Amino acid sequence: MQIFKTIQEMRAACSLAKGGGQRLGLVPTMGALHEGHLSLVRTAKAQCDAVAASIFVNPTQFGPNEDFAKYPRSFERDCEILEQEAVDLLFAPAVEEMYPQGMTTWVTVEGLSDKLCGKARPGHFRGVTTVVAKLFQIVQPDAGFFGQKDAAQLAIIRRMVRDLNFAVEIVACPVVREPDGLAMSSRNAYLDPQQRRAAPVLYRSLLKIQEVFKRGEHRADKLIDSGKQTITEEHSVRLDYLEIVDPDTLDHADEISKTTLVAIAGYLGSTRLIDNIHLSTE
Ligand code: PAJ
Repeated sequence: MQIFKTIQEMRAACSLAKGGGQRLGLVPTMGALHEGHLSLVRTAKAQCDAVAASIFVNPTQFGPNEDFAKYPRSFERDCEILEQEAVDLLFAPAVEEMYPQGMTTWVTVEGLSDKLCGKARPGHFRGVTTVVAKLFQIVQPDAGFFGQKDAAQLAIIRRMVRDLNFAVEIVACPVVREPDGLAMSSRNAYLDPQQRRAAPVLYRSLLKIQEVFKRGEHRADKLIDSGKQTITEEHSVRLDYLEIVDPDTLDHADEISKTTLVAIAGYLGSTRLIDNIHLSTE
C-alpha cells in the first residue's frame, strides 16, 4: 500500500491507477477503523481494479463544542489493517493540506443538510459535502463507497453527486453491527461499560418499529410511538430524534410506502450515536 500525505502525490498516483481504463474505488474515512469501514473496503475490492482509502479527521464537520480534538486516532494500526485488506493507495493529509489558509469555498446541499443529524449539528453536513467533493476532485474515483449507517450523509452525498455532475457512482453498503445489535461506530469507544450495555436500545427500538409494522401498522406516528416506548427502557439514553422519512429527500413520511427510512439518534452521556433501518411495503 502506498501512503500519500500531499494532494499532488495522491492525484498523480490515482491518475496512474486509473490508466488503461482500470476502475478505481474510493473509501473515505476518518480512521479509527472497525469492521464497518472494512466492509466498505471489501466491497470496493470486489467491485474495482484498484482501491484508494482516505483517513482524514475532517475539522469542518465538527461543531465548536463537538469531539474533534478527542476523536479517536489510531493511524499506525489503521495502516496495518488497510495493508492487510490489500488497499492500494492511502491518502492521509494534514489539515493544512486540505484546508490551506484563505479557503472560502463550500459545498452545501441545501434543504437536506438541515434534516435529521443536521438539526442538532448545524454546519456538519456542509463540512462533509465539502471534504467529500474535495476527495472526489483529488482521487477522481469511478466509485465511492459509503455506509448505510450514516443514512442522511448518504442521501446528501448522492444529491451532491447528482446536482454537481460528479462522474462517480455512489455505492451504499449495509450497516455492520456488534453481536448485540449496536451499530459499529468509532464513537462507541467513548462509552463506559454501563453506557455500552444500554446502547443497543437504539437498535431495539428500530426492531420494535419493524415488528409493529409487520403486524400491519403503517402509520408513521403510531410506529414512532412504539419505538419511543422501547427507548424509555433505558433511562440513561436521551433521544435526539426518531423519524420516519423518505430516504432520498429526508422529508417526513406520514406512512410507510415503497422504501422508507426509520432513523434514530440518541445521547449516552455526551456521546451521540445514530442508527437506522429501512421498511418497505414492496
Ligand atoms: P467515518 O465515520 O469514519 O465513516 C466512514 C465510512 O464508514 C462512512 O461511509 C460510514 O457510513 C461507514 N461506516 C461507519 N460505520 C459503519 C457501520 N457500522 N456499518 C457500515 N458502514 C459504516 O462518515 C465519515 O467517516 C465522514 O463523514 C466522511 C464521509 C469520511 C467525510 O469526512
